[in-house]
Amino acid sequence: MYTQLQQRGMAEPPVNIATLRSMKGKAEPIACLTAYDASYAMLIDSVGTDLVLVGDSLGMVIQGHDTTVPVTVDDIIYHTRNVARGLRRAFLVADMPFMSYRNSDQALENAVALMQEGGAMMIKLEGGDSQIDIVEYLARHDIPICAHLGLKPQSVHKIGGFKVQGRDPEQAKHMIDSAKRLQNAGADIVLLECVPNEVGAAVTKSLEVPVIGIGAGPDVDGQILVLYDILDITIGRTPRFVRNFMPGHNSPGEALHAYVSAVKDRSYPAPEHCFS
Ligand code: KIV
Repeated sequence: MYTQLQQRGMAEPPVNIATLRSMKGKAEPIACLTAYDASYAMLIDSVGTDLVLVGDSLGMVIQGHDTTVPVTVDDIIYHTRNVARGLRRAFLVADMPFMSYRNSDQALENAVALMQEGGAMMIKLEGGDSQIDIVEYLARHDIPICAHLGLKPQSVHKIGGFKVQGRDPEQAKHMIDSAKRLQNAGADIVLLECVPNEVGAAVTKSLEVPVIGIGAGPDVDGQILVLYDILDITIGRTPRFVRNFMPGHNSPGEALHAYVSAVKDRSYPAPEHCFS
């Protein structure tokens, strides 16, 4: 019954939630990237990336929108299906787009679609206290969940831009408490975006589940970046936490390998990629 899963990588078994938890336990950094198609998924997988996210960032980097708001569930399913075909070892997470989890039943229906039609192994939703009931409901139905805290790009119009979150001590404390509540409700991973180093460290220390950071400093359990940012495909200004890995490398494959190595040996993120 389990042969197919076992055969996906006889030499290196596929990453699952237990692998990620054990990496946190052993303080082994988790290297994560976004992907949107099968060819890059294959390359990303081949360099030892542990987790791949089909992010709603595809609205910006693939579709050319200014925000992630226009992305639909069908868009994510389409790209997740393509990425799934390219992966052998990495753990596949798919984003729940804007307004696809307004209530528990809608969230469950869309999460099931991402898993059954897209092939995702976990869904990610941007959530704080108002999503606790939804996370609890999904967890009760055995849906693996990554909860996204800090800067939540789907709320960009509400918060007035892509800004660092949690600089104010009250807001930082609230974020740490929310992360604990999300974990207790059943979140298996917390993703933290654009927060000061101390907030990244405090959330990571207070949770048993892995914390993946993007602009959350060095003291988290893993790092994630948007694929196009590290391959220098993004035109114009990139966020402070981005590092372009193309210089000194002759191909995207070499740059991806350098990214995974830099996460594993903790040379990324450096102080210039962090917020205080
Ligand atoms: O959509 C996305 O790619 C994300 C990353 C910024 C982590 O959520």
